[in-house]
Amino acid sequence: MRYLKGSMFHTPEYGQLAFIADALIKIDADGMIQQVLAPADDNYAETLSTISSELVELSPTQYILPGFIDLHVHAPQWPQAGMALDIPLNDWLQTYTFPLEAKYADLAFAEKVYQDLVQQLLSRGTTTVLYFATVHLEASLALAKISGGAGQRALVGKVVMDDPEMNPDYYRDASTEQALADTETFIQTIQEMAPAYPQGIYPVVTPRFVPSCTDEALAGLGALAQKYDVHIQSHCSESDWQHEYVRTRFGQSDTNVLNHFGLLTPKAVMAHGNFVDAVNAPIFVATGAALAHCPISNAYLSNAVMPVRRLKEQGVTIGLGTDIAGGFSPSLWDNIKQAVISSRMLEEGVDPQLPARERGVAESRISIVEAFSLATQGGGVALQLPIGVIAPGYTADFQIIDVADEKQPLDQFGAAQTPEELLQKILYLATPEHIREVWVQGKTVFMQA
Ligand code: GUN
Ligand code: FE
Repeated sequence: MRYLKGSMFHTPEYGQLAFIADALIKIDADGMIQQVLAPADDNYAETLSTISSELVELSPTQYILPGFIDLHVHAPQWPQAGMALDIPLNDWLQTYTFPLEAKYADLAFAEKVYQDLVQQLLSRGTTTVLYFATVHLEASLALAKISGGAGQRALVGKVVMDDPEMNPDYYRDASTEQALADTETFIQTIQEMAPAYPQGIYPVVTPRFVPSCTDEALAGLGALAQKYDVHIQSHCSESDWQHEYVRTRFGQSDTNVLNHFGLLTPKAVMAHGNFVDAVNAPIFVATGAALAHCPISNAYLSNAVMPVRRLKEQGVTIGLGTDIAGGFSPSLWDNIKQAVISSRMLEEGVDPQLPARERGVAESRISIVEAFSLATQGGGVALQLPIGVIAPGYTADFQIIDVADEKQPLDQFGAAQTPEELLQKILYLATPEHIREVWVQGKTVFMQA
């Protein structure tokens, strides 16, 4: 049993901010939140006075936020983060990304990169990650082991890209049969390893995207996901090229094709979805599949801004992803800001030569609180896990933010008059230095030195 006492922010529902000053959070031995008490609650004082186990009491300048949930990380691309973003998606894959990912045949190299990446993500408050690894079975298993061993909640996929026409000889599955056999071995091995990691490690069926897979692989992966009832991830309608490639090959939208192969389920998360239109969005709603919004990456590789507000209004579940290294930043904090900025640019439009009324897409903006929801509550719903909200029955995954950092205090002039204003300041101005501690499943997994 562990108790945490401090002021907390979260969004129990999309865009609905809740603030509790001096909350008392009771965490059970399994790292689950058992109770959240506010000072006005009847048993608050009594509970506080009778605590016999560990009580962590925050200072008045510290705030509890849910750990962030990153729905889209290409772990092997971490070495190229911040570079090589000058060409379109398919050229970027062939020129920069596939040569880098091919290097993960070397397990020692993989371990070195993955150890660093996991710490970088934890130190930025990311407590759960949906990872793409590479085609390599061994290195993909190593990613789950390293992330799980560091106390992070990890959902990991061995990537499938089996089509010899679409993938280079030096980097693809040896055959369709091998891709499916390796995926099944990967699922079974992760499920055997899982009991050693109380916060959870999960196998994920991972066709890279429709263009890289044969029909047989897509069908086989859909069947494996169903057989083992596991998560699925892929990319959907990311760019003009991807969207049109699928339409040319199948005469159908990417959404329809993924659904046809059994790859859209309540445990499926599709990255990007920028070109999921008003006709395809209901397919996401009906199947329960979610989208991972990757706003920084989209600015470079997707040719468009994701219409988050329209998709939310249609009922689609959406979370947030960094898409390392299509996105240069390992931080969901940065992506929260970009989600808001991109939505404002979609609403206003971008070409000053056009008259204002023709420039943008009306009613496209999202608020910073809605973007915060995407990184927390939305990610939890997308993964069908009890995460992203600070309430009984959810995991104790927190980041503890100190607004009184010596070098860069966040509200030294007292301008924030309400909790929401203070959260706005935190979300826009906090740096990794403000993140003092990160907890996953009730355990401290990162502490600022
Ligand atoms: N589509 C297929 N593979 C990738 C990838 O690695 N990154 C992005 N952003 N899109 C993809
Ligand atoms: Fe991606």
